[in-house]
Amino acid sequence: MEQNHIEIIRSETKKQKPQTKELEFGRIFTDHMFIMDYSVDKGWHHPRITPYQPISLDPAAMIFHYGQTVFEGLKAYRTKENKVLLFRPKKNMERLNLSNERICIPPIDEEFVLEGLKQLVSLEKDWVPSAEGTSLYIRPFIISTEPYLGVAASKTYRLMIILSPVGSYYKEGINPVRIYVERNYVRAVAGGTGKAKTAGNYAASLKAQEESEKLGYSQVLWLDGVEKRYIEEVGSMNIFFKINGEIVTPVLNGSILPGVTRDSVIQLLKHWGVPVSERKISIDEIYESFQKGWVEEIFGTGTAAVISPVGELNYEGEKLVINNGKTGPIAKRLYETITNIQNGTEPDPFEWTIEV
Ligand code: COI
Repeated sequence: MEQNHIEIIRSETKKQKPQTKELEFGRIFTDHMFIMDYSVDKGWHHPRITPYQPISLDPAAMIFHYGQTVFEGLKAYRTKENKVLLFRPKKNMERLNLSNERICIPPIDEEFVLEGLKQLVSLEKDWVPSAEGTSLYIRPFIISTEPYLGVAASKTYRLMIILSPVGSYYKEGINPVRIYVERNYVRAVAGGTGKAKTAGNYAASLKAQEESEKLGYSQVLWLDGVEKRYIEEVGSMNIFFKINGEIVTPVLNGSILPGVTRDSVIQLLKHWGVPVSERKISIDEIYESFQKGWVEEIFGTGTAAVISPVGELNYEGEKLVINNGKTGPIAKRLYETITNIQNGTEPDPFEWTIEV
C-alpha cells in the first residue's frame, strides 16, 4: 500500500438520517469514520475510512490514565445550491498541531489529514443537514494508545475523525444565556494547557459548570488562574465585550484557546471598520464600566454555537443585566454574517470557505 493512499471500507448498512427537530449537539453519528495510526517506526500510517463502530483498546492504553489526547471541532454546511462547504478547515489542522506540540503528540501532516477529512465528508454528504442553524459537526481527535502505566509520552497513537449532524449548541440558540462569574474554580493557568484543545481543560471545567447550572446559569465566566482577576473565556467559548463603543476581547496569553471564530470575528470587525482590540480585561473593569452604563454587549464565540450573547452576568450575587437581556446589534450582525458566509448565502470576502 502506498503510504498516503486512503483505503475506503464502506458500511453495508445505512443508519436512518435524523429529522431536523431531532438534531441536538453531538448525539447522532454518521455511517463512516476516518482512522490513522502512529508508531515510532512507521510514523502516521494506514489512513482509512471505515464503518462507524466501537474501537477496542487495551485497558492500559495511556489515554485512559493520563489523558494524553487532543481534539478539534469544525463544521460542514449545505448551501442552497446543494454544495457542501467547510469553514476555515486549515486553521483547525494548524491548531491540532499546536495542541499536539503542547501535549507531546507527534505532528500530523496537516494537508493530508485535511484531505482525509474531505474524503470522509464527501462520502457522508447526504448527512449534511440543510435547515437553518444546522450543520455537520466534524470532530477530529488523537488518543494515546500505548499500553503502559509509566508517566511519559505514548509511543503509539490513533487519529480519528467522526461526524455528527447538529442543531444549536445551547438550547437558547442565538438567544442570550445567563452566566455566573466563577471566583473559585479556574479552567487553566499560565504555563498550563489552556491554549491547547485537550480533554483535561474540559474535564477541569465541569465542576464549575454543574454548580452554575444548579444556580440557574448556563455557563461560567472564567477568570485567570493566577490573580483570578483577568477575564479569559466563557464556558467553552472565547468572549467579547462592547464597552463604550469599543469591542474588546482578552489577548491570547497562553491559557486562552485561540478560537477560529474568535479570529473570524476580529477580522470581520476590522473589515467593517468597527474598533476592536485584544487586551487584558479585568472583572473590576467590567463591573465599573457596567455601573457607568458602558457595557453595551457581551457575547461568546465558538464553532459549536458561533455567537452566543450573554444577557446576564452574576457577579458575587449581583445580577448585571446586559442590553436588557436581549441580543445586541453587533452580536446579531456577526452571527448573521458568519452563518451566511458559512452556508454560502453571502459573499465570502476572506475566502474562508472551501468546497468539499
Ligand atoms: C466550541 O465552542 O466549538 C467548542 O469548542 C465547544 C466544544 C467542546 C463542544
